[in-house]
Amino acid sequence: MKSKSIILTGDRPTGKLHLGHYVGSLAARVALQKEHTQFVMIADAQALTDNADNPQKIRENILEVALDYLAVGIDPHQTTIFIQSLVTAIPELTMYFLNLVTWNRLKHNPTVKLEIQQKGYGEEVPAGFMIYPVNQAADITIFKANFVPVGDDQIPVIEQTVELVRKFNRTYKTDVLVEPKALIASIARLPGTDGKAKMSKSLGNAIFLSDTADEVMKKVKMMYTDPGHLRVEDPGKVEGNPVFTHLDAFGTDKAKIEELKEHYRRGGLGDSIVKKYLLEVLQTFLEPIRKRREELAKDPKHVMDILFKGTEAANRAAHQTLIEIRQAMGIDYFR
Ligand code: TRP
Repeated sequence: MKSKSIILTGDRPTGKLHLGHYVGSLAARVALQKEHTQFVMIADAQALTDNADNPQKIRENILEVALDYLAVGIDPHQTTIFIQSLVTAIPELTMYFLNLVTWNRLKHNPTVKLEIQQKGYGEEVPAGFMIYPVNQAADITIFKANFVPVGDDQIPVIEQTVELVRKFNRTYKTDVLVEPKALIASIARLPGTDGKAKMSKSLGNAIFLSDTADEVMKKVKMMYTDPGHLRVEDPGKVEGNPVFTHLDAFGTDKAKIEELKEHYRRGGLGDSIVKKYLLEVLQTFLEPIRKRREELAKDPKHVMDILFKGTEAANRAAHQTLIEIRQAMGIDYFR
């Protein structure tokens, strides 16, 4: 990665962020912000594509997501944090992009297909939801982002963005738009506490960054392990065992984790002992985040002010690209 690459990523404000978000993207943002130009968006317009009847939920979660960002160490002096819907160059570019993609292509985005199925939309999928990958392509390209740190479920959306960039640049014989690359974390997907492949708020299997120590304890106690590991003496499985995936993601003592894995595989190591250690690891990780979040939550106006200023800065950057886009398309009528 070149130094001073442009990074853009974001989250739908439909709930508080959890450990899966941290592993998939937040950790990368904290690491990348020093050396690069980073934009992080709270994607409220995208969240409305399947929550049109509940704008209040989106409104409330804008502050919650911002608190999560600041609590994990996304630094507003190093990262421009902003609200998507207030950057109106994005829907304008979305309109131009929509002319460069076919309906058929939209129907074949695997992430969207899966979501339509999960939400039970069938043919009655809102048109806005159907085109959200195009809107997301505009999110990314209006900032000329080079890299997009996301979970692996977002890969098809980034692929579609690259297609749109190529199509746009080819059609208008320009190079104003930049092809982005997805940055996928080494643990691409954190499993849920129930052992399902993905931690997710809607599946009810998440440990939130804002959970109390007590809630974390209960969730770790209940965490799915190897169902074949019935007696302590039995050999246990480490692969696909969320207790160990969480240890890999959050534990700092790698030698100790390796030792535990070997012992577990051999047999003779009880789940409760591994869970006790995991709990220790998670509390150590979450405690400072929880403290900072509580502190920040006392002054919501300050947090909203950070978003206001970030949104102003984002608008300046996006507007500059929009001028170039209109020039490239030859629709810059008054100059
Ligand atoms: N679709 C992303 C998600 O559900 C959120 C998002 C919106 C996003 N705009 C983005 C991610 C731009 C990366 C870049 O998590």
